[in-house]
Amino acid sequence: VWICGHSRKRRTGEPPLVTGWLPFIGVTLDYAANPLGFLRETQKKYGNVFTCRIAWKYFTFVTDPFSFSAVVRQSKNLDFQKFAVDFSHRVFGHADFSAPVFSQSYKEVHSIFRQTLQGPSLQQLTETMLGNLQMVLELRLPYEHNWFEEGLQSFTNRIMFEAGFLTLFGKDARFLHADDMSGTRICMQKAVQDFLAFDCAFPALAAGVPICLCAQAWRAREALAKELLHDKLHRRKCISDLIQRRMDAFDRMHLDETGKARTHVCMLWASQANTLPAAFWSLYYTLRSVDAFTAACAEVNKVFSGQLISNQDQRISLSREQLDSMAVLESIIQEALRLSSASIMIRVASEDFTLTLDSGQTAALRKGDYIALYPQLIHLDPEIYPNPTEFKYDRFLDDDGQRKSNFFKNERRLKHFLLPFGSGASECPGRFFAVHEIKQFLALTLWHYDLQLSDPDATLVPDSTRAGLGILPPSRDVLLRYRRKTNTTTE
Ligand code: HEM
Repeated sequence: VWICGHSRKRRTGEPPLVTGWLPFIGVTLDYAANPLGFLRETQKKYGNVFTCRIAWKYFTFVTDPFSFSAVVRQSKNLDFQKFAVDFSHRVFGHADFSAPVFSQSYKEVHSIFRQTLQGPSLQQLTETMLGNLQMVLELRLPYEHNWFEEGLQSFTNRIMFEAGFLTLFGKDARFLHADDMSGTRICMQKAVQDFLAFDCAFPALAAGVPICLCAQAWRAREALAKELLHDKLHRRKCISDLIQRRMDAFDRMHLDETGKARTHVCMLWASQANTLPAAFWSLYYTLRSVDAFTAACAEVNKVFSGQLISNQDQRISLSREQLDSMAVLESIIQEALRLSSASIMIRVASEDFTLTLDSGQTAALRKGDYIALYPQLIHLDPEIYPNPTEFKYDRFLDDDGQRKSNFFKNERRLKHFLLPFGSGASECPGRFFAVHEIKQFLALTLWHYDLQLSDPDATLVPDSTRAGLGILPPSRDVLLRYRRKTNTTTE
């Protein structure tokens, strides 16, 4: 941590130092106003690697996409865990897992992510999500032919939050056998409101504002934690392996009850904060583009029509192969992620050391410095993606309609061309589940509903005040008209 007022001199071998005009503040204001524009300009002036002073810290940005591997593979000298755990401790208020007393047990907790979100467990989780999505969409209710109106963002948040929450944290046993879902619905409405109130303060919290100064966010976080106390979770049914195993691990670590609940709020945030806007943009772009809509509906019809529903619930089921076969939906999701993702990948130098970039250029780094990658530089690079701000539903499909993964810059093939989920040590362990759940959401809504944007020509931009924090939400909501289709009987 750099003490306010401490100024640094560039040493031999270090990258250019971009200090800005204002003492103490450095380039914080320029960066915060437009991170992508600032980084592009600075790259033009100083080259592919430079150090900036932002919010009293020194960040060395590596901007050449071919050098991303050099950073993400450097796990020996560049640490991700420390930054992530400190951040999470500060924002969510759980125990400080970077303390030596927790180091071994936290490694175990961390390994649960992979074990329960990937491999064989992924299938179970995906199936549960499909069932919950159908329940939340109330497909068992009698047909109503009326058109409904609701904001698209509110529609997406409501459905994805509730289905995702129930998939991870299980169902309240009190409402398990109720014919209607009104009990669950009331609890979920409150939970989604609390979640959004907390999430709204996230940019301030990430910038270092203590949560005690954000009264509404504090109240919302604690209200969510209250619902996730182990006492309450024990009364829920069908809890995911992920949460069950985290509960067991935290019990063994003898954390206090509120501390355990706050770690579950952290998990809830990780599972929803990016998924909700990603689902929003995927559906929004599908509805705005006639080509995307036509291709997506054709793909969904092909997979769903003729499905024989044998169970009484008349639920649709989707095999892993069917889900994987939906290449158009996958391309739509990837393109929506490309356009809306603005995350920053940060590592902390654990020693003084020299980083060698792809070109052979070297950059001396100091212990404690932050090394940062900004994937939006790749995602919106016109050389990699022609007309980069345009939504092209088939950008990630080849001429045969299969997944495309060869993208080039300077005629060289890129290893890292799409990084909404990070890479290396910080790569999102929930990425496969995230794509599955968004695919299921798109498929079910397109199959069961007539959907129209009230004003399809209005342009919508991502809310860039959240740049650096992942998938950007829209700057405002747009009105959606929808009604149940009559021709999707699956009996
Ligand atoms: C971490 C993106 C959905 C669980 C991350 C990171 C990114 C990311 C960029 C790394 C953060 C960093 O560098 O500090 C996304 C996106 C999603 C998504 C774009 C949806 C479109 C999910 C879901 C889950 C999940 C659905 C779980 C159900 C996690 C966890 C971590 C993480 C547990 C922390 C991993 C660690 O500490 O090693 N995610 N994520 N994510 N994500 Fe996701």
